[in-house]
Amino acid sequence: MSNIMSNLKKIEEIKSLTMVSDDRIDGLIEIISPFYLKTDKAHGLDHVLDVTITMIKMKIKLFIKDESCIDENILVAGLCHDMFSTLEDRKIHNEKGAIWISKNSDKLQNLFQIDNTRAIELAILEHRSSWKQEFSSTLSELISSADRGYLNLDDMIERSLKYHNGNMEEVIKHMREKFGRTGYAKYPQIFLDFHDDDLEYFYDDIDSL
Ligand SMILES: [Fe+2]
Repeated sequence: MSNIMSNLKKIEEIKSLTMVSDDRIDGLIEIISPFYLKTDKAHGLDHVLDVTITMIKMKIKLFIKDESCIDENILVAGLCHDMFSTLEDRKIHNEKGAIWISKNSDKLQNLFQIDNTRAIELAILEHRSSWKQEFSSTLSELISSADRGYLNLDDMIERSLKYHNGNMEEVIKHMREKFGRTGYAKYPQIFLDFHDDDLEYFYDDIDSL
């Protein structure tokens, strides 16, 4: 399936999972799409659509009722979180994303009929797996959890290969260092609750790479 077709399918899935009107979702996608033409290959529109879908599924499965996790906030945070993940700005893409949200706050509040965008701004700032401080809201924990992806090693390797220009040795090293049993990727509670005991199998798979 072409990338465009698969993205359209993902957009349809998002629309089917939320009560937010299709027009509002299309409006946001139109605003953000040009940014994702400039991001690195592993952080394109397809990735943020996946993260948004996972955020909604986590909210549904775990009965998350927190006010910060209204669908509108999930959509904006999920779809905007990697807008500035270009090769040059990868290390500060979360900061640039948070600034963009604050600068475009009026526009986003109007589009989604929400009171403020503060939780979204902080969620984007705090979404990276290297974030070591407390999460300022459940929305931050939710996006950080969803951004770890599903525990599908094949998909993760495929995605990482894009980022490492096809160098398999580097990818395996990265997988072990980041996602292995003693890796630096520490999982938020929402991630652990959502994936339950799949995590053990996943560690075994990484050990056998
Ligand atoms: Fe991401």
